[in-house]
Amino acid sequence: MYFPVVLLSLLVLIPLAADALDNGLALKPTMGWLHWERFMCNIDCDKDPNNCISESLYMQMADVMVKEGWKEAGYEYVCIDDCWPSYQRDAKGRLQADPKRFPGGIKKLADYVHSKGLKLGIYADVGKNTCAGYPGSLGYYETDAQTFADWGVDLLKFDGCNMDWKLLGEGYVNMSKALNQTGASILYSCEWPLYEWQFRQPNYTAIRETCNHWRNYADVYDSWNSVKSILDWTASHQDIIVPSAGPGGWNDPDMLVIGNFGLSHDQQESQMALWAIMAAPLLMSNDLRDICPRSKDLLQNRRIIAISQDPLGRQGYRTAKVDSFEVWERPLYKNQLAIAVLNKQEIGGPRGFFISVAPGWKICSPQCNVTQILPQFKEIGVQTLNSKVVVSVNPSGTALLTVTPINRVPTGSHKLHWQDTPVKHNMPFLK
Ligand code: GLA
Repeated sequence: MYFPVVLLSLLVLIPLAADALDNGLALKPTMGWLHWERFMCNIDCDKDPNNCISESLYMQMADVMVKEGWKEAGYEYVCIDDCWPSYQRDAKGRLQADPKRFPGGIKKLADYVHSKGLKLGIYADVGKNTCAGYPGSLGYYETDAQTFADWGVDLLKFDGCNMDWKLLGEGYVNMSKALNQTGASILYSCEWPLYEWQFRQPNYTAIRETCNHWRNYADVYDSWNSVKSILDWTASHQDIIVPSAGPGGWNDPDMLVIGNFGLSHDQQESQMALWAIMAAPLLMSNDLRDICPRSKDLLQNRRIIAISQDPLGRQGYRTAKVDSFEVWERPLYKNQLAIAVLNKQEIGGPRGFFISVAPGWKICSPQCNVTQILPQFKEIGVQTLNSKVVVSVNPSGTALLTVTPINRVPTGSHKLHWQDTPVKHNMPFLK
């Protein structure tokens, strides 16, 4: 079998151009749970008390996160999305939670979540109203930042609906300053570039200085088409967005929808693998109270999480399109490399891929050690540049591997330089 590698463009990853938001947070991609994709704006607690947006939903998720190993796996933030507030601000102009659905208020909820060793996220909007029509923060940035700090909130997702796009940047920067001025540690999750792309190319240097992560593209849905469109958008803009990611600031391709209804298990594996390659925040939106064991094992897979949380903090990118396969690669700490091979042919059965075709395989000179993580864990072992190892990938599934270079120890020296010095792989982007 021979696969022609299609080289489409030759762009070299440039080093980080900007400093991250200096709040000491999100040094690794954020991990947690966020209500939106699964629970949306379900506010009917009379008809659907178990699934409506209410304090008990977050308390139950926090309980399960501790009991079912999520916290231990690294998932830390329990995040509220839209539809939590009352339609009116209080007499002092502060946001307040809907009294019927959050009888204890957000402070009590934050205390509860903290008592479980977890953190609480909340949602607001840079404009006049949130996307679902609740009060926005425009004109209230300092008040709202202080309110969130007083409540003990640990993360703010700041949406960009109902705002003059020319004022977006100013709004996001002012809220960042307001959060900082409270002195509280509040991770700042933005949607600034998503709303700005509709008009012009955003300034990622400014975004990285302002936010801990930022959404670039449309909302994720519970479907393979949605996940694919996010991957396509990311790959086709990788030369612009990848250099801006690193400890303290990350591109956010939106929530993990693993454990819901729309993705086959292979597609769930693809989302998990590619979100780890993209150094994406791992914010699950699913029902942790009722999730199938295979999805749970996948979301808690320590080897995939280790790629996501790799200390080098570089975002991966697509490096090749070969015979309806896509190869994505992420440089890891100590010169290692993660390789994901996505089978985009949605007809037929499993197909074989010569893993040495991956552009990053060149680190296997003279030798490398290869571990397969998906679809099954397997030590593939020591390989060379010309290895003929074939990985089998199901339609819309992904094979995920890590490759560790084995360098010759120079005669007379026992110092393995490659173990301590991250080396740039300079892999070409292929669109
Ligand atoms: C926008 C955001 C979503 C979600 C909804 C809530 O669409 O992109 O992630 O927060 O608003 O209304």
